[in-house]
Amino acid sequence: MRRAMTSEKLAAVILAAGKGTRMKSDLPKVMHKVANRPMVQHVLETVRSLGPDRVVIVLAPDMDPVAELVKPARVAIQSPARGTGHAVMAAREALADALAPSGTAETVLVVTGDTPLLTADSLARLVAERRRAPEAAVAVLAMRPDVPGSYGRMVTGADGALEAIVEAKDASPAEREIPLCNAGVMAIDARLLFELLGEIGTDNAQGEYYLTDIVAIARRRGLPCRFAETSAEETHGINSRADLAAAEAILQGRLREAAMAGGCTMVAPHTVFLSADTRIGRDVTIGPFVVLGPDVVIEDGAEILSFSHFTGARIGRGAIVGPFARLRPGAELGPEVHIGNFVEVKGSRIGKGAKANHLTYIGDSEVGERANIGAGTITCNYDGFFKEKTVIGAGAFIGSNTALVAPVTVGAGAITGAGSVITRDVAPDALAVERAAQVEKPGAAAAFRERRRREKEARAKKSS
Ligand code: UD1
Ligand code: MG
Repeated sequence: MRRAMTSEKLAAVILAAGKGTRMKSDLPKVMHKVANRPMVQHVLETVRSLGPDRVVIVLAPDMDPVAELVKPARVAIQSPARGTGHAVMAAREALADALAPSGTAETVLVVTGDTPLLTADSLARLVAERRRAPEAAVAVLAMRPDVPGSYGRMVTGADGALEAIVEAKDASPAEREIPLCNAGVMAIDARLLFELLGEIGTDNAQGEYYLTDIVAIARRRGLPCRFAETSAEETHGINSRADLAAAEAILQGRLREAAMAGGCTMVAPHTVFLSADTRIGRDVTIGPFVVLGPDVVIEDGAEILSFSHFTGARIGRGAIVGPFARLRPGAELGPEVHIGNFVEVKGSRIGKGAKANHLTYIGDSEVGERANIGAGTITCNYDGFFKEKTVIGAGAFIGSNTALVAPVTVGAGAITGAGSVITRDVAPDALAVERAAQVEKPGAAAAFRERRRREKEARAKKSS
């Protein structure tokens, strides 16, 4: 992540105490995930990349999981939630010693916790806009969405400067026609913030303390207010599940583009799903319909074939995985490993050049270099009570349909016969076979067929 995008001294407040009623969820709104990362974490990481002196996040009293997630950011509790202005007031104590004149922060950046697509560039531009001479009391991030809907409208004066923000519910029909909207981010002069907030009231359609009212209050005092514009896409706010899905689509687009820019070939990018933390090397090829859950690393030159699904996995250089492969947490594939169709790997390290190409489950195992795991091999790692480990030595050859009952070790270079149930350790270079000896009766098949054919004829006669 890029650091120190601005040399300005900043403190930041992230607002996340709202109920998020429109999500119809038991989970706090900001914990809903976009690209497998809670939206508040997206906002927090973007804010942190600006290097603020302090970050305060405003939460409701029952949001301990959020407080845990955002550590070491300071948490301020707002109770009850009485609007965005009221939320910033709740952060007063947690901010106080960081702000000028007692601290060094000259700008307070207020960001809503439900805009996970914000970029650090836009935040830095907004802060710069506020600081530009003559310094503004408030600078607001603005955008022009296709459907302004419930966003606050930005009222500008003849000179184009910002005069007020009117919430959609309080707007006159003429104000509703204003295309310029409040994206939910403000940069405010740290010395003026609480003074301006002290003047806001609740005389509005929602009976709330609107943070947005500080613009008109500053203007009444003759203080300049301005805005910096950014794309509507980036400032997409999440208030419903449909908004969440739209944000997911936008972020997936960004992640795919970044992966391709980094040297990954995607045959059908719109069918590949990534996570915010996915790491992909150079010359990686990803086929259609691949899903990468959280915590996946794909090293240079690896090839991922279609319909594969990975979570918590590392894929080594030049490995070939899929189609239809499933890698679960703790799957660590070394360089040039081959994992083929309908193979599942969990909690296992697979050594360089080892292969498991068909219909196999490898769980809680250690597989040595160049080992070959035959089709249908299963590590029986769980007896209903304990998970046990399987060790397969370097160059071992596991015959098709072997069941390896853990804990068990197959030594380096050993072979297991197809269909064996291996319950005891196999010494290096030994051949272990566990199945009944094959019996052969010459001519017995022909004799059987002849006997049954006669029986069938006899029954047919009887019934006619
Ligand atoms: C707000 C803005 C609106 C802007 C839009 C951008 C106000 C009054 N309105 O509206 O101008 O266009 O964001 O997305 O600021 N929150 C609290 N405590 C509260 C209320 C809200 O912490 O008492 C938090 C919420 O958790 C949320 C954020 O503030 O993260 C914004 O609240 P929300 O209710 O979504 O405001 P909008 O109606 O979207
Ligand atoms: Mg909102």
